[in-house]
Amino acid sequence: MKAFNDLADFSNEEVQALVELASRLDTHPEPEALKGKVLALLFLSPSLRTLASFQAAMVRLGGGSFVISPDMSIHGLETRPGIVMDGAAAEHIREAVPVIASYGDAIGIRAFTERKNVEHDMQEREFSSMTGLIDTPYINMESAMNHPCQSLADWKTMDDFGVPANGGKFVLSWAYHPMALPLAVPVSTLHMAAKRGMDVTVLRPEGFELPAALMDKAKSAAAASGGSVRETDQRKEAMEGAHIIYAKSWSSTRHYGDKLADQKLREKYLDWCVDEPWFANAKEDCRFMHCLPVRRGVVVADRILDGPRSIVIPEARNRMLAQMAVLHQMLGGKK
Ligand code: CP
Repeated sequence: MKAFNDLADFSNEEVQALVELASRLDTHPEPEALKGKVLALLFLSPSLRTLASFQAAMVRLGGGSFVISPDMSIHGLETRPGIVMDGAAAEHIREAVPVIASYGDAIGIRAFTERKNVEHDMQEREFSSMTGLIDTPYINMESAMNHPCQSLADWKTMDDFGVPANGGKFVLSWAYHPMALPLAVPVSTLHMAAKRGMDVTVLRPEGFELPAALMDKAKSAAAASGGSVRETDQRKEAMEGAHIIYAKSWSSTRHYGDKLADQKLREKYLDWCVDEPWFANAKEDCRFMHCLPVRRGVVVADRILDGPRSIVIPEARNRMLAQMAVLHQMLGGKK
């Protein structure tokens, strides 16, 4: 595997093989599989789970990793192309990325965007401008519109909890959050559930529609796997018979890049905080998923997070296992 950039680049059989390998590495550890291998981790945006789970994954497979991020004692990094570097930043990513990559056998990169223009962000120009500088195998640790490691872990989590693929009903719900957040997780999650063959409903208020091209991509994936994709702003209708509610906040696509207009719109939806009444007509054992971090009492009520519906902790642990499977395949893991 040369790149792990988008779940859409893999067949369902390949995704299932990664999920099965992740489970096998949990029950049958391979502490020498990646002996002597090094993973370079470049975080241009903050993280807890991705940062910790990749390092843990490499240790569990017998390899090592190192982390570079702007808040470390490194030279200030410039990311803008074609800039005259007469300001504070002393080093450009055009040198930094290939140098960091040259120290590893693979590199993971996390780089959000400024979220000024949705069409621009959908092209993933910043991310591909970095990966285009290297021949080293790379992993997308979250870009403007993609978070494939999260999606692989989420697929595994639903398998672990016996959530049906075909016939399974998946609700991806927008939730209130005081800030405009990236689209990477909702877009990846939508595609993952559709690709898994589920009947997916995107529940969101008006103004928070996901981009049409990405809805169409998910619809095609669903059609190929026997699932479906639709969207609504009607909570009761969306939750009917749901097996999973996956909550996430994201930026208004109507006001993308306009923080004030986004804030004005989202403040109308302060009550979009997942709580027990949301589950009134869902499956009795409908589960709650979230990629984390999550704001308690804002995105979801404590009693849901702390109650039996929540599977967010095993979901987060699956990040490590899913990434172990990716690294094992990418770096030629040997027993
Ligand atoms: N879900 C996720 O990617 O978490 P972090 O931002 O903490 O890495």
